[in-house]
Amino acid sequence: MNKLGVTLSGWELANPVIAASGTFGFGHEFAPWYDINILGSISLKGTTREPRFGNPAPRIAECCGGMLNAIGLQNPGVKSVISQEIPDLRKVFKKKVIANVAGFSVEEYVQVAALFDAVEEVALLEINISCPNVKSGGMAFGSSAESASIVCREVKKVAKKPVYMKLSPNVANITEIAQAAEAAGADGLVLINTLLGMVIDPASGKPIVSTKMAGFSGPAIKPVALRMIYQVYSSVKIPIIGVGVILVQL
Ligand SMILES: Cc1cc2nc3c(=O)[nH]c(=O)nc-3n(C[C@H](O)[C@H](O)[C@H](O)COP(=O)(O)O)c2cc1C
Repeated sequence: MNKLGVTLSGWELANPVIAASGTFGFGHEFAPWYDINILGSISLKGTTREPRFGNPAPRIAECCGGMLNAIGLQNPGVKSVISQEIPDLRKVFKKKVIANVAGFSVEEYVQVAALFDAVEEVALLEINISCPNVKSGGMAFGSSAESASIVCREVKKVAKKPVYMKLSPNVANITEIAQAAEAAGADGLVLINTLLGMVIDPASGKPIVSTKMAGFSGPAIKPVALRMIYQVYSSVKIPIIGVGVILVQL
């Protein structure tokens, strides 16, 4: 393996640079612009059992130090991702990818994970229990050690591939949730997802994004991400994929 190579639960990557879920679509959209094979891998857009249109516009707002998004898990549904998006990506990307599994119930997480688990191009399952942009599900599962461990344990029952839990920074005690996921059998952790934020339009005095509150990402979250990764790294033994303007594997 070259100097930049990393191994995640037995999966060898040529480098640790992974496009974060939701920031890179299903990958193939970027192929006309540059050779996406320079990436270590790609984490696909969060995928649910059924197709979703996401939240109404406006669902993006720029702000000091980054941006807010409230996409609301727009995706074509797991069957379409497997039958169309991944084959389209395979034409232009020669490496394995990370499937980002989202859901509104434990059963949905399990079903979506089981379908992705059977796909050859998928190296690893990233279980998104941290989406702040949906009314139920998402972050709700990542907000307590108990619900995080239930999702993790049930997904592990059907998954042969490594299961990495993507944690929410919108909690009081991140280490408690990380330890619960590890105890439930998680092979690794991904952190952090976006911070819950709000942007007000000074002209109207109203929130810009339709959902009022939305996920804050960008340069300003880096110190928060580093602090949480530091805390979690000291309290678990499983690998961590760092996200938040950082791309590291610890
Ligand atoms: C437009 C947008 C959509 C996102 N969609 C997802 C998603 O579907 N699943 C997920 O786990 N994270 C999603 N995220 C969170 C990112 O993967 C990442 O955790 C977060 O943006 C922090 O990293 P950054 O500051 O480097 O962007 C999304 C972020 C953005 C900006």
